[in-house]
Amino acid sequence: MKRNAPGKVYLVGAGPGAADLLTLRAARVLADADVVFHDALVHPDVLAVASRAERIAVGKRCGKHSTAQRFINKRLVDAAAKHRVVVRLKGGDPMLFGRAQEELDALRAAGIDVEVVPGVTAALAAAADLGVSLTRRGLSRSVVFVTPRVGDGEQPNDWAATVARADTAVIYMGAGEAAAISAALLARGKPSSLPVAVVENASLPESRRWLTTLGALPGLADEAFRGPVLLLLGEVFAGAGREADEAYRRRA
Ligand SMILES: C[S@@+](CC[C@H](N)C(=O)[O-])C[C@H]1O[C@@H](n2cnc3c(N)ncnc32)[C@H](O)[C@@H]1O
Repeated sequence: MKRNAPGKVYLVGAGPGAADLLTLRAARVLADADVVFHDALVHPDVLAVASRAERIAVGKRCGKHSTAQRFINKRLVDAAAKHRVVVRLKGGDPMLFGRAQEELDALRAAGIDVEVVPGVTAALAAAADLGVSLTRRGLSRSVVFVTPRVGDGEQPNDWAATVARADTAVIYMGAGEAAAISAALLARGKPSSLPVAVVENASLPESRRWLTTLGALPGLADEAFRGPVLLLLGEVFAGAGREADEAYRRRA
C-alpha cells in the first residue's frame, strides 16, 4: 500500500542479547513497528517483541560490506515510503560499531524523519557479567572501546596506541585476531601479565567467560566460539574469574 506521507525510521539498539535489557522505548517502538530490518546478531527473543511487524534479516555481522550497506540504506528509504513505522534494529547500541552514520546520512538526504533509540552496548553487559567495574578509583579512570577490524577500502588506524594509553580497553570484533592483538600491544609496551577477560554471549544464559593475560592471549585461537566475543583488558580484571563466578552464582 502506497502512503502519501513518508513514514519514520527508528534506529533501535537491540541490546546485547537478553530481551529484558531492551529499553522501554525500544520495546514500545518495536511493538508499533510495521517492518523491522535486523542484524544477524539480534536475539530471537528481542525480535519477538516486534509481534506485528514484517521482520527482514539484513545479515551483516561486522559492518564491512559497503555494497551491502548501500543496499540496506536504499531498503530503509524505500520502506519509509510504504510504512508508518520502520525499524532498523542493531545489536547493542546502534551508534557503536554499527554503521549508523551511513544510514542516518542516507535517510536525512532522502528527507526522511529518523530517530535513534539507544541500547545497552556489549561492553557494559560484559562488565555486568564479569561483576567488574570498568572504572575503579585509583586504578582506572579511562575506558576505550576499539576494534582492530578494518572494512573494505578503509585505512587501518592505530587502535593499539589508543589501547596502550587507556586504563581499561574493550575490544570489539577482535576474538579472531587474538595473536595479532597480543603482539601489537606487547610491542606498545603493555606487560605480558596484563589481565584480559574474554566474554562470549554477554547477558545470555549461555554466556561463557575466560580470564587470561596479554601474553597468553594467542591461546584463544584454540577456542571454538559459539557467539559474539569481547576482549576486555586492564588491571581491573585481575581476579575477574572469581568475581564472575560469584556474579553468576548470585544470578542463577
Ligand atoms: C558489529 S559490532 C556491533 C556492536 C554493537 N553495536 C554494540 O553496541 O554492542 C559486533 C561485535 O560486538 C561484540 N558483541 C556484540 N554482542 C555481544 C555479546 N552479547 N557478547 C559479547 N560480545 C558481543 C562482538 O565483539 C561482536 O563481534
